[in-house]
Amino acid sequence: MEIRVFCVLALLLFSSSFLQVARGQSDPAVEVVEGTEEAGDLGIVGDDVQDFSSESYTPAAGVETVCVFPKNPSKVVAAGEECELLVGMKNDGESHLNIIAIQASVHLPFDHRYLVQNLSVQAFNNATVPPSAQATFPYIFAVSKFMQPGSFDLVGTIIYEIDQNAYQNVFYNGTIEVTEPGGLLSVESVFLFCLAVALLSLLGFWIRGQIQNLSKVLILTYVPCKTG
Ligand SMILES: *[C@@H]1O[C@H](CO)[C@@H](O)[C@H](O)[C@H]1NC(C)=O
Ligand SMILES: *[C@@H]1O[C@H](CO)[C@@H](O)[C@H](O)[C@H]1NC(C)=O
Ligand SMILES: *[C@@H]1O[C@H](CO)[C@@H](O)[C@H](O)[C@H]1NC(C)=O
Repeated sequence: MEIRVFCVLALLLFSSSFLQVARGQSDPAVEVVEGTEEAGDLGIVGDDVQDFSSESYTPAAGVETVCVFPKNPSKVVAAGEECELLVGMKNDGESHLNIIAIQASVHLPFDHRYLVQNLSVQAFNNATVPPSAQATFPYIFAVSKFMQPGSFDLVGTIIYEIDQNAYQNVFYNGTIEVTEPGGLLSVESVFLFCLAVALLSLLGFWIRGQIQNLSKVLILTYVPCKTG
């Protein structure tokens, strides 16, 4: 009996450490989301970076943008998971463009005044697009994992400067399809639930055993006390 309990415990410990490893592997993905806000080779968002969401600029003449969702042409976004899009910029103007940041927000499709989520800001430190040139900028975002599945509108803007004047282009204003968080997560939670049930029943058995032992001890100690 003792050995069997020990085996079950060892198995549980082993599987929970296995789970830790599995979680350790999936965690970096989460950190990358936060990381894009702090640092990267492309840019840094710090205290000195303005919050552009409250301001609204006009597009500069001769600047055109396109937006593609590589690996994801149907624009299906799993809640809480990273999604990448590429913003292409074409500069047909006469000045250098200084790219400052890309930002996006999620809105209800039927009423854009209702903002569901402000997505992270991707800042660019020293990215320029010379005249008659094109450049592509990546933007990685993740919608909240608590977002209900369904259709939402994503509005993405790229903010840039020409001679210290700020401009912006809306590179995407259209639908994205939000789906439930990926399967990996639910497998993990099912596993955790089973683990919890197993541990609780094990604890129950252990407590019952202890109580039985205790009552034996009590009887054994009680008897001499009475006679003595
Ligand atoms: C999004 O950002 C705007 C401007 O900073 C702010 O007014 C608004 O309350 C924010 N909305 C949410 C849902 O965070
Ligand atoms: C910024 O870019 C310019 C030209 O592309 C380059 O000469 C300069 O060294 C860069 N500065 C930094 C801090 O990277
Ligand atoms: C995006 O499109 C909707 C309607 O299609 C419009 O009401 C809204 O003003 C647009 N947003 C921007 C930032 O252009």
